[in-house]
Amino acid sequence: MIPSIQSAFLLSVALATSLSSAQGDASLVGTWSTKSKKVVTGPGFYDPVNDRFIEPELAGISYSFTSDGYYEEAYYRAIANPTTPHCPSAIMQWQHGTYTLPGNGSLVLTPFGVDGRQLTSSPCSGDTGIYVRYEQAELMKSYQVITDPFHNVPRLNLFKFDGSPIQPMYLVATPPQMLPTQTLNPTSVASATGKSRVKRTDGGDGDHAQEPLQPLNQNAFTSRLPSKDSFNPDHWWWAGVGLTALGTVMYMMPTSV
Ligand SMILES: *[C@@H]1O[C@H](CO)[C@@H](O)[C@H](O)[C@H]1NC(C)=O
Repeated sequence: MIPSIQSAFLLSVALATSLSSAQGDASLVGTWSTKSKKVVTGPGFYDPVNDRFIEPELAGISYSFTSDGYYEEAYYRAIANPTTPHCPSAIMQWQHGTYTLPGNGSLVLTPFGVDGRQLTSSPCSGDTGIYVRYEQAELMKSYQVITDPFHNVPRLNLFKFDGSPIQPMYLVATPPQMLPTQTLNPTSVASATGKSRVKRTDGGDGDHAQEPLQPLNQNAFTSRLPSKDSFNPDHWWWAGVGLTALGTVMYMMPTSV
């Protein structure tokens, strides 16, 4: 080989190597959950067949990533309500879709639009909740997978578009525990007529466009209206304890998500 061809060859090998390393990160693969580990992606959080959420015992966040570019996320959080400070609202959010690593340290999450769901409930107002379609693309400015120095387990640190950290998550499952990584609800066509920019009040990314959403069915909490095929002692227990107790427990959870 003459030198210029040889260096071009080496350059192309180097380029191919850096491109392939930018496409995937094996250390991300798995299911991650915040400390209580009660919120975990997959069929235990969202039931796509009955189109319902299954209420976890405690607040938390979970993300899952596959090696071939799919992700799923589950959020269950309390939201302070200024008019009833002793009784915060609860919010559940679920999305899945694809992710990319553009090579600059960021993590870009693109949801399958029709599949995302959000349920907000205000225990003190006596409502069953507001159940809507939810679509929120996310840019994680950076991420880190480290070994947690205290728990000695893999830990995922995500940093939002503005660099602020999300609660640390710990590896709870490999391979990841997820619903099928394809559009689950392809026949639903959102009839939203336009995009409006709304500020999220739950600490999420305020700079993303959010579709106006339509209410879905009102029986979105599987645990409050248990169906025959969703029997689980935890759910029955929660159904019995009721909304007021839930509000009390959620109030004690950290809300700085
Ligand atoms: C990385 O690239 C993506 C996609 O081009 C971009 O949206 C993001 O802002 C970039 N991140 C940083 C930290 O520059």
